[in-house]
Amino acid sequence: MAGRIPEEKVDEIRERTDIVEVVSSYMPLKRSGANHQGLCPFHSEKTPSFNVNAPRQIFHCFGCGVGGNVFSFLMRMEGLSFPEAVRRLGERVGIEVEEQRLTPAEEQRRQERDRLSRVNEVAAEFYHQILLEDPQGGPARRYLKQRGYGGETARAFQLGFAPAEWEGLARHLEGKGFDPKVARQLGLIREGRQGRGDYDLFRNRLIFPIQDASGRVAAFGGRVLDDSLPKYINSSESPLYHKGQVLYGLFQAKEEMRRRDEVVVVEGYFDQLALHRAGFGHAVATCGTALTEEHGRLLKRYAKRVVLLFDQDRAGQQATFRAMDVLLGQGLTVAVAALEAGEDPDSFLQRHGDEGFAKRLEEARPVFEAYTDAVFAARGDSIEGKARAAEEVAGKMRLLSSDIERGLYLKALAERTGLDESLLRTKMQRPNQKPAAVPPRPAAPAGAAAPREEGGPPRQRPKESKAQAWLLQLMAVDAGVRGRVGKEGAGELFIGPDHRAVAEAMLECSPFSLEGLLHGERLSEDQKAIVSGILIKDDGAFADNAEELFEGCRRATEKTRLKLRCDELKKLMRQTEQEGDWERHAEHQREFFDIRKRLEAPAKK
Ligand code: UTP
Ligand code: MN
Repeated sequence: MAGRIPEEKVDEIRERTDIVEVVSSYMPLKRSGANHQGLCPFHSEKTPSFNVNAPRQIFHCFGCGVGGNVFSFLMRMEGLSFPEAVRRLGERVGIEVEEQRLTPAEEQRRQERDRLSRVNEVAAEFYHQILLEDPQGGPARRYLKQRGYGGETARAFQLGFAPAEWEGLARHLEGKGFDPKVARQLGLIREGRQGRGDYDLFRNRLIFPIQDASGRVAAFGGRVLDDSLPKYINSSESPLYHKGQVLYGLFQAKEEMRRRDEVVVVEGYFDQLALHRAGFGHAVATCGTALTEEHGRLLKRYAKRVVLLFDQDRAGQQATFRAMDVLLGQGLTVAVAALEAGEDPDSFLQRHGDEGFAKRLEEARPVFEAYTDAVFAARGDSIEGKARAAEEVAGKMRLLSSDIERGLYLKALAERTGLDESLLRTKMQRPNQKPAAVPPRPAAPAGAAAPREEGGPPRQRPKESKAQAWLLQLMAVDAGVRGRVGKEGAGELFIGPDHRAVAEAMLECSPFSLEGLLHGERLSEDQKAIVSGILIKDDGAFADNAEELFEGCRRATEKTRLKLRCDELKKLMRQTEQEGDWERHAEHQREFFDIRKRLEAPAKK
C-alpha cells in the first residue's frame, strides 16, 4: 500500500520550490506584470494564455482552464501521481521523502522486483552493446540498415542483438555474479538438462526491450533475421511483465502524446519504429495482444484521443473493434485510420512516404462510423442482414459517452435503414447511468488522485460556467456572499459538479483560505484548476458591487437551469408522444411553455 506522505513534508517541499523555476525548465516564460506568461504546454495556442504567478506560487491557463500549484503542474506535465510529483520535487530541493514503511511481505516483493529488474537491465545492455559494436552484431546491423534504421533508433529504443550462441547471456550473467534463478524466472535463460548448463532463450535474434512507462525494462521481444518461424518470441510473464499492462514504446512516446493529446496505436514493434522515424513520435504498439482495460487507462494518462492503426487484415479489424469497446467505454475519443488492404503502417510508410502517411492519419474516421460500416458490410444486403446489423449497431451505442453523439448516430442509423428512430432507440441499451440531475461528486481520494482522472486534458469550459466562475470569485472576496451561498445552498446556485464542489469546499474550510484548498487534498485536479483561476485574477475588482453581481450570477444560473430543463422536457415530450401517454405529454408541454415564457420575459430588476 502506498502510504501517505506527511502533510508537513508536502508543505515543506512546496515552500522550498519555486514554481517559476520549475515551469521554466520545461518552457520559456516571459514576465508580464505580476505574472510570467508562456504558450500553454497543455493545449496548442499561438498567443500565450498560460500564466504563472510567483507570489502565489500557482499557474493557470485562461485558454484551456488548467491550473494549480507546482505539484499539479508536474502531475500534468509528467503524467505523475501526487506522491510521485512530491517525491520528484523533493529530490530537486534536496528534501528526502522517506520510503513508506512496508510490511515484511511488501518489502520482500519489492526486493524481488529490484533483483529481477537489475537482471533485465544487464541483459538489455548486453544485447545492446553487441548490436552497436560487437563483431557478432554484424548481421543484425545489416538487417536493421536494410530496413532503414541506424544507430540512432537503436539507441533510442535500446535495441539489441542476441548472438547465435547457446550460452551468451547465461555466461555473461554468471560472470557478473547473478543468481541464475532470477534470469530463469524472467524466462531469459532455461535450465539445462542432464548436467548441462543453462541456455539462452533468445538466440540469433534482434532484441526489442519492452520498457514500462518510466523506462524500466520489463521484458524482451526477439525477431529472427530471416523468414524462419516463429518470427517473434517474447519473455514470459513475470512479476515485472504482464503483457496486458505494457505498451511498447510508451516511454519514448509519452511526451509527444501529451503534446498532441493524441496517441497512435499500432500492432508491431517495427510499426512503432517506422512511425517514430517518420516523425510521428506519439505511437505505441500492442505487440499483437488485445488491448486491455489497463492499456486504456495507461493511454488515458497521456492523451484524450486514440487513433487505431492496426494491420489491414481480418485480425486487425477484429482487434480494432475490440479496442473500440475498451476505449470508448473509458470515455476516450477513438478514430480509425485506414491503409491499403494487406499493408501495415511500416510497409505503408515505405511505399507512400511520410506525407502520404500524415494524410491517412488526418483522414482517420470516428471509430463508431467505421464500425457501423463494417457491421453492415458483414451482414449483407438482405432484409434480415440489415435488421441484424441495425440491432447490433444500436446495441453498441451505449458506449458513446455523449448523448448528442448518440443522438446523431441514432439518426444516421435510422436514415441508413429507413427504420424509425424510436424503434432503434429501444434496441439501444441504456447508457451507463447518467442521471439528469447533477450528482454530487465524491471528493478526490486523498493523495492518490491520478492526474487527469477524468481523462485527457481539461475540456474547454462551457459558456454557462462563466456565471458560476464569477460567483465563486465573489465568494472568494466577500464573506457576505459566502454567507448567502451557505444559506441558499451551493446545490441551488451551482450547476456544474466541479464548481459546486469548489463552492462547498469554500464554505466548509475554516479558516477560509483558497490557497489552503489549492494545496490541500480535498479537491480534484480539475477542481483545483478552478481555484487557480480565481487566485490568479485580481481580487479587488469585484468587491464594490458584490450584491449586484451576486444577483446577476444567480439569474444567469437560474436561466441555464431552466434551459437544461427545457431540453429534458423536449426529450420527455418526444418519448411520451411515442408511447401515446397523452396525459403526461400534456403535463410536460405545459411545463415547457411555462418555462419558455419565463425565459422570454424581460429580466426583473
Ligand atoms: P506482425 O507479424 O505484423 O509483425 O506481428 P511486424 O511487427 O509487422 O514485424 P515485421 O514488420 O514483419 O518485422 C505484429 C506483432 O505481433 C507480435 C509482435 O509483437 C509483432 O510486432 N508477434 C508476431 C509475436 O509476438 N509473435 C509472432 O510470432 C508474430
Ligand atoms: Mn511489418
